Amino acid sequence: MSEVIGVVGAGAMGAGIAQIAAVRGHEVLLTDANAEILDGVPASLQRIYEREIAKGRMTAEEVTAASERLTLVSAKDGLSAFSAASLVIEAIVERLDVKQATFKALEAAVSDLAVLATNTSSLSIASIASGCRAPERVLGVHFFNPAPVMPLVEIVPGIRTDAEVVTRARALIDAWGKTTVLASDTPGFIVNRIARPFYSEPLRMLEEGIADIATLDWAMKEHGGFRMGPFELMDFIGHDVNYVVTESVWTAMYFDPRYTPSLTQKRLLEAGLLGRKSGRGFYDYAEGASKPAPVTDAALGKRIVSRVLAMLINEAVDAVAKGVATRDDVEVAMTKGVNYPRGLLEWGDMIGPAAVLAELERLRDASGETRYRPSPLLRRCAAEGRSLLNAD
Ligand code: NAI
Repeated sequence: MSEVIGVVGAGAMGAGIAQIAAVRGHEVLLTDANAEILDGVPASLQRIYEREIAKGRMTAEEVTAASERLTLVSAKDGLSAFSAASLVIEAIVERLDVKQATFKALEAAVSDLAVLATNTSSLSIASIASGCRAPERVLGVHFFNPAPVMPLVEIVPGIRTDAEVVTRARALIDAWGKTTVLASDTPGFIVNRIARPFYSEPLRMLEEGIADIATLDWAMKEHGGFRMGPFELMDFIGHDVNYVVTESVWTAMYFDPRYTPSLTQKRLLEAGLLGRKSGRGFYDYAEGASKPAPVTDAALGKRIVSRVLAMLINEAVDAVAKGVATRDDVEVAMTKGVNYPRGLLEWGDMIGPAAVLAELERLRDASGETRYRPSPLLRRCAAEGRSLLNAD
């Protein structure tokens, strides 16, 4: 019999994770503190399943079976139903005190063999596990939004997590058809750390008057091969999410200037101009609003991409040097988690480590800021003519 999966939190992420597990054949227990949100899940899943049927990806029988495998557990009934679960994934509000209380309650409900996982984006696994009687069975499993669509899941052991627990959770999530990578319990894990310059460097260029948003977006798509420009993407993610991630990584990194957030983005957030969802962010999404035209100057486009890529590649190299993840996992994470056109280490090798280093040194000399300091590993690879992807 397949394992019973518990999911706590039925918001955007929890509902998606419950859907994955139910479709993959598990009995799923789903709970949420908010009854209205919990009760709304079956109808919203039904809408998703109907689209799956229309696209020929699921049969009506499979939908019925998946729907029957999902059991809603009302918050007023407590967590005792979770005693049957062998893995519980928590996807509730991003607050340490609330998560710790939930893990305590879960520990009282589940069997000693159950694995407890958190989908946190910004809290440390160590801090969430610290309130537990058995922190060795707690780990991070970080899905991307929307969870059923995005292939990547970062598996994050805490300092006290058992290796066995990591192996079990990873094998299960692999069996759900996900691509898993192993990340250390450090701020932003892999993707949310390495991706920061994709947003912050174009924001800087905007603030420095180098180019406007339309030109910066055009350059990153046309010359960088990215699917969306940084400003389009920030508007899509929402500044309430994207700015907050940047600020939390910056704070957790002891205010390292490499991660400094942008005041321009903060003002949008403060003004309630959150992006697509509020009708306006960097761009105006009102009916009939015209989109600003880029300055399609190839030399400028290449300069923009060169600067952003140098920062991204430096961040990827530094994450490898600091043991955040293996080279392979860094490459997989950025291509599968945020759809980069190629892995950043491979890209660094194509440009040449010496050229990436030269770009960073130029930026550092021009600005005098430690933000642009090259990773020692990048320096070494450049000096010794070694590959970023294959050097040992
Ligand atoms: P959400 O706000 O859509 O859903 C959170 C749900 O948790 C709400 O339905 C709320 O009623 C419920 N909840 C709050 N406190 C609870 C409690 N004590 N017990 C039971 N339910 C409770 O949030 P979302 O976006 O689904 O995020 C959930 C978690 O996933 C957070 O830790 C977030 O950092 C993380 N995450 C979010 C991603 C995203 O793009 N939205 C991506 C990856 C991770």
